[in-house]
Amino acid sequence: MKILYLGDVVGRAGRSAVTEWLPKLRAQWGLDFVVVNGENATNGAGLSPDHAKGILLAGADCITLGDHAFDQRDMLSYINKEPRIVRPINFAKSAPGAGSRVFEATRGRKVLVAQVLGQVFMKRAFDDPFSAIDLVLKKHPRGGLVQASLVDIHCEATSEKMGMGHYCDGRASVVVGSHTHVPTGDAQVMPGGTAFQADAGMCGNYDSVIGMDKEEPLRRFVTGMGKGRFQPCTNDGTVSGLYVETDDKTGKATRVTHVRQGGRLIPAGPAPIDAV
Ligand SMILES: [Fe+2]
Ligand SMILES: [Fe+2]
Repeated sequence: MKILYLGDVVGRAGRSAVTEWLPKLRAQWGLDFVVVNGENATNGAGLSPDHAKGILLAGADCITLGDHAFDQRDMLSYINKEPRIVRPINFAKSAPGAGSRVFEATRGRKVLVAQVLGQVFMKRAFDDPFSAIDLVLKKHPRGGLVQASLVDIHCEATSEKMGMGHYCDGRASVVVGSHTHVPTGDAQVMPGGTAFQADAGMCGNYDSVIGMDKEEPLRRFVTGMGKGRFQPCTNDGTVSGLYVETDDKTGKATRVTHVRQGGRLIPAGPAPIDAV
């Protein structure tokens, strides 16, 4: 199966990049299943129902969220109406929606998607992500009723993300990190056949500070004195993520590569797949 995961969509720049690139990538690469992280799509904080619809219409089969899952209040009710949106399993016991779900990919194949929040350097104390994901993977072994499984580990520390990758190695098809908005260069298939990258990077404008217009963050870093609000960039977005091929019988990843298209960032080194 050909799976594409796109990292945190940030503001209008990210949304426009996804709208422009995802339909082309989906068609030209013959993608079977697409997951997009939408936690910053609406004004940099959360996801509105309208913006969720736009991402799904562009070609996402599933949208994952993150610590900003419910920054847009409408999501508190909308997530119960739209089963293609998955929030972190361990967000809060009372959170609406689901933290994992089995989806249908092309030709009736099944894909498990789960998202979990890490604990290191996060603003809030979330429940243990390892025992949470353990339960889900035991219930849905890859190569069983689900042909592939993807875990979105949403947190700050690359060490915790790598830990999650190894914890799920041999059990999930893909473990991919989100939240930091900066792609890491460690795409690999782990020994047990789990594709991994510590962070997929954001879909947004990279001439920024993690997707926000750089003036205000710089002012705060340099002077410690804020003057305004953070504003997400509105144009020149790059899509960034992870492309994975998996074996339907075993659920193992057979190929993984980092993807980035559009905006000011040109692919570093050889294009991951034939350039669109
Ligand atoms: Fe986040
Ligand atoms: Fe984010």
